[in-house]
Amino acid sequence: MKKMILVTGGTGYIGSHTSVELINEGFEVLIADNLSNSDISVLDGIEKITGTRPLFEKTDLSDAIQTQKLFEKYPGISAIIHFAAYKAVGESVSIPLKYYYNNLNSLMLLLKNMEEKGIQNLVFSSSCTVYGEPDTLPVTESSAIKPASSPYGNTKQVCEEILRDTSAANDNLKIISLRYFNPIGAHPSALIGELPLGIPNNLVPFITQTAIGLREELKVFGVDYNTPDGSAIRDYINVVDLSKAHVTAIKRLLENKNRKKLETFNLGTGNGFSVLEVIKAFEKASGEKLKYKIVGRREGDVEKVYADTQLANTELGWKAGTGLEETLLSAWKWEKQLRKNKNQAK
Ligand code: WQD
Repeated sequence: MKKMILVTGGTGYIGSHTSVELINEGFEVLIADNLSNSDISVLDGIEKITGTRPLFEKTDLSDAIQTQKLFEKYPGISAIIHFAAYKAVGESVSIPLKYYYNNLNSLMLLLKNMEEKGIQNLVFSSSCTVYGEPDTLPVTESSAIKPASSPYGNTKQVCEEILRDTSAANDNLKIISLRYFNPIGAHPSALIGELPLGIPNNLVPFITQTAIGLREELKVFGVDYNTPDGSAIRDYINVVDLSKAHVTAIKRLLENKNRKKLETFNLGTGNGFSVLEVIKAFEKASGEKLKYKIVGRREGDVEKVYADTQLANTELGWKAGTGLEETLLSAWKWEKQLRKNKNQAK
């Protein structure tokens, strides 16, 4: 009998790639998503890659009735991976209440239903934003949690506090919180990938949209940082490598291998690359010349952040292995496929 995993936000970027890896590992996947920031056609991509169409329920997980109905309809859920959240840093500054209401309520309703239904296993999608501008690098899981630089980042911090307190109070709850660094790239099949709605916030989709001619030029937000080439440094992690870490975490919980009721792992590569280095790597990988302009810093950006990945490597037994150029090429292949699909649809 296949174990059923509930993947909230499963038609989203990381959720869809994780659903593919879960199905490949023999799990049954139930996706609950309100489709506010993703498209139902992602299910077709998952099915084409794996040969299996995941179960899907359109659900607003911040709505108590809808969430309760989901758990009543599917009594056999063995574990949950919770991706569903709003995640645009800039938008969270202008409409913070939307972020607090959705991101906190959806987690609390999940935990409430887990307690009522006796579901014990939860993997939570967290973020390196909890570290803010780190005092020392690379950041470990015990590095200081800095005051969040955005309401989005604060919702991740508050969610981690909710997980800390509920797992301490509930003997049956086993939780793993995964702190992502910068997820980039797409599935090598180019059947699923990042689908930013409107103008992308993040670097890599902006690069590929510029290269394909959708955007006039890339703006590089500042070259006056204290880094070798002046541009900011991040830890860019391949989305498929990241997704595989979620399967490893789910197995760890289902096999009761977790050492603590709440475990936290950094998911990065351990390598930091600057914006200008990413641009050069993209040009080398794609053969495209990228048009970009240096402008001022973006509000809220940190100068440098990259992960110490030892804990995930040794304890979780997971390591990101895909290089930056290969990952950027997968993003480029996906962008070209997207445009082809759009042109064919016309
Ligand atoms: C990366 C670098 C920008 C766009 C955010 C969230 C984080 C996670 C990943 C959800 C920075 C520079 C970017 C552009 C640029 N999301 N840049 N021109 O801000 O590190 O992290 O996304 O979990 O939580 O905070 O990612 O891709 O926006 O920026 O120069 O058009 O690229 O200044 O140095 P970020 P990003």
